[in-house]
Amino acid sequence: MLEKDSAALVESIVDVLEDRLRVRLSQCDPKPLGLATGRTMQPIYTALVSRLQAWPTSELERLVEGWLSFNLDEYVGLSESDSESFAAYMTHLLARPLKLTSDQVRIPNGRSKDPQKEAALYKTQLLDCGGLSIQLLGIGVNGHLGFNEPPCNPNCHCRVVNLSESTRKQNAYSFQNNHNLVPKDAITLGLQEILSAEEIHLIVTGSAKSSVLYSLFSERAGEMLPASWLRQHKNLYIWADNLAFSKVKTQLT
Ligand code: GLP
Repeated sequence: MLEKDSAALVESIVDVLEDRLRVRLSQCDPKPLGLATGRTMQPIYTALVSRLQAWPTSELERLVEGWLSFNLDEYVGLSESDSESFAAYMTHLLARPLKLTSDQVRIPNGRSKDPQKEAALYKTQLLDCGGLSIQLLGIGVNGHLGFNEPPCNPNCHCRVVNLSESTRKQNAYSFQNNHNLVPKDAITLGLQEILSAEEIHLIVTGSAKSSVLYSLFSERAGEMLPASWLRQHKNLYIWADNLAFSKVKTQLT
């Protein structure tokens, strides 16, 4: 866990990701990467792409050729052609600059006619690929991970969920700042798939997240704080900038 300003934090996280991606190059059948969306992740993808574009061409080509990632979630009703979708976000920030195909950057199909079936299919596809290696995570102000809203137990699987008022408000920035335009449902990986990742990196930035980070450190694990189940993971890294860390610092140190 590091306490730095957000720009320094991004560079430290990208150092680790670059290292893990180099290791990946030496593995013959690496497990997929687990990727997240949201404002927290934007500077990380931007910095990661710049770093990777500085790699020797042959290494970058090998990395791109072997790339396989699964995103956490997507809104029901949206697909890549909708600019507010997480699919469009991934295309813009990662797939297009690195020349990755949509088959390499997997994301649930929010436009499926049968979202429950799509969730089950997505879960099976992930399992068939061996589960996740690294999982990157942001966090909701109510402690959600992916779109696992409270209350949520650690055994839940990939499924369709209703989004809370709090989450629709948090994500309204992509929908003309009108939370009524944010879809009411989403497909999300469950905590079961997330907690099965080999290594988890939770990234928490900005003062709006200081209370939830404090709760994560001070409350017992429970259904009302989905992120609290992360504490049972053996290989968890929590990255926080100084704004997000401020309440922990004043109350707990
Ligand atoms: C959405 C995503 C989450 C993400 C959260 C944080 O709700 N489903 O996976 O962690 O946003 O968003 P932000 O980084 O914009 O605060």
